[in-house]
Amino acid sequence: VRTRVAIVGAGPAGLLLSHLLARAGLDSIILDSRSREEIESTIRAGILEQGTVELLDEVSGSRARTVGSRHDGIELRFDGTGHRIDFAGLVGRGVWLYPQHEALKDLIAARLADGQDIRFGVTAHEAVDAESVSPAVLATTAEGGELVVRADFVVGADGSRSVVRQAVCGSHGGYFREYPFAWFGILCEAPPSADELIYSNSPDGFALISQRTPEVQRMYFQCEPDADAQAPSDAQIWDTLQRRVPGATLHEGAIFQRDVLRFRSFVARALTRGRMAIVGDAAHTVPPTGAKGMNLAVADVVLLAEALEALLVGGDASLLESFDERASARIWKAQHFSWWMTSMLHTAPDASDFDRRRQLGELRSVVESQAGSAYLAEAYTGWPL
Ligand code: DHB
Repeated sequence: VRTRVAIVGAGPAGLLLSHLLARAGLDSIILDSRSREEIESTIRAGILEQGTVELLDEVSGSRARTVGSRHDGIELRFDGTGHRIDFAGLVGRGVWLYPQHEALKDLIAARLADGQDIRFGVTAHEAVDAESVSPAVLATTAEGGELVVRADFVVGADGSRSVVRQAVCGSHGGYFREYPFAWFGILCEAPPSADELIYSNSPDGFALISQRTPEVQRMYFQCEPDADAQAPSDAQIWDTLQRRVPGATLHEGAIFQRDVLRFRSFVARALTRGRMAIVGDAAHTVPPTGAKGMNLAVADVVLLAEALEALLVGGDASLLESFDERASARIWKAQHFSWWMTSMLHTAPDASDFDRRRQLGELRSVVESQAGSAYLAEAYTGWPL
């Protein structure tokens, strides 16, 4: 088959890109190896920047404002005390707690209603001919047949195990950082333990108290990178969580989902090659502290959609040529913010007493300084798109 833009991956990046391209009069086909049901039910992060929500609202009518909830601040907790970072007061912006899979339901429904061609259950295995004017994606259908999607441009929005990245960067890899811990995440049936999210640095390690709905809560705690999600009992999990938010008391309830999230920082060495580009997790990974992953994917896509419109409608390649540089500026700011929140709040296994006291000094520098708090608020709520 032939289309203007072949998009690999029906996650937030691929779906949003197809919306923006359609507005510019450009047809696309989206391929994803997963089923619609799997995409719509996989639990991912829950915080959307204000600019992300405004954009999703504009393109597909998101339910963030009805199903989600607005948060005008977070609590940083350390030394047994909570300190509120007042986003609204500091930067006049907020974020939305709205689970990614809910945003995906909105995007998929709106795309299908517009007649978008989304091929679920189709696995891309190679992207070819990047340097030509008609690159292609080679894929296998659910029935085992071969599918070739030829296009004027190929976009890899296919996540951290991207096949398009291989065609864009080859074996050049990218910039990596590993962390000596992971997050143990749970979903539980309980009322919220706080009005806003709590990011807690405790002598036993980090915990994050997040939410989903009035009846369901999401919480995480720092664990070993190779922890087994099934090993601890519910009582052990609650004991760990309670100890990690000293001075606060959590409402406990039945735990109905557990998972272990890996921590990695990664940026691909190149984001484009000829008529191919990579966006979102295919291009970069951030550790989850600060919830930048999906928001960064959205920011990549805004820039790429403009560049593709200029190229494929206007015949002007200049925005595509500068895409890597412009996208990278925000990617590295988000890499820094995610690394900074992670390093300030977690306890490294080899942390000395010096490290631990320095970390508390850093946290005090943030909460006791208007300028320090304002940086956190600005980065957390998101830089302008
Ligand atoms: C959530 C995840 C995050 O990484 C974060 O920083 C805040 C909230 C969440 O899943 O609710």
